Amino acid sequence: MRKKLVAGNWKMNGSLRQNEVLLSDISAAVPGLTCEVAVFPPYPYLAQSQLALAGSGVALGAQSVSEYTQGAFTGEVSASMLAEFGCRYVLLGHSERRGLFGETDAVVAAKFEAAQKAGLIPVLCLGETLAERESGSTMAVVARQLSSVLDRSGVGAMVSAVVAYEPVWAIGTGMTASPAQAQEVHAAIRAQVAVLDAGVAEGLCILYGGSVKPQNAEELFGQADIDGGLIGGAALVADDFLKICLAAS
Ligand code: 13P
Repeated sequence: MRKKLVAGNWKMNGSLRQNEVLLSDISAAVPGLTCEVAVFPPYPYLAQSQLALAGSGVALGAQSVSEYTQGAFTGEVSASMLAEFGCRYVLLGHSERRGLFGETDAVVAAKFEAAQKAGLIPVLCLGETLAERESGSTMAVVARQLSSVLDRSGVGAMVSAVVAYEPVWAIGTGMTASPAQAQEVHAAIRAQVAVLDAGVAEGLCILYGGSVKPQNAEELFGQADIDGGLIGGAALVADDFLKICLAAS
């Protein structure tokens, strides 16, 4: 059986002082949970988080990574740098990166490869906009986003990767996908991988993200192909985040 994972994407939030409390509240509660827990703070707080989480069992991740390994790339952060700060995971292709910062499928696929080369586990984010859902192209969009990684890295790469389905219209809006809507897309993602390798598909952890709250987490996580959540707003409040972790446990 796949182990559940609950990941907190802090986005561009936090401060040294706020993080101190949040990190310590989360690490204190995690020994009582059976799901895996990970947090994704902004880059400057990775060192603080690495220290605060040492020995806690909470995994650390970054919110993005460069497709390049080193050199004259001002403002970029390489995968090996993230590994040095104890990162196990890295988010890739988040809709905010795709939509606001112009990350294409090709760039996301290059970053996926760079992350794995440095030993990081990519959390590949996929999802359709509201216009795409309303025009009936949800499945095609998600399949295209996934294909760009499968085409470049091969299905074997999915053994050490996580996928997160995050409908763009559900992010930060309070409009969660219904458990049935989410399950439908999760099943399609797993089926797409299964065409290439049924065993890899069966083991693949697929998270749901988009307005996950303590009130809706249990029903979402109860769906056959939903293996946990990628949490935004609710990950900034220890009590809410831990309730969501409990729902996955
Ligand atoms: P919210 O939980 O705030 O909707 O954000 C989801 C998200 O984008 C996580 O990556």
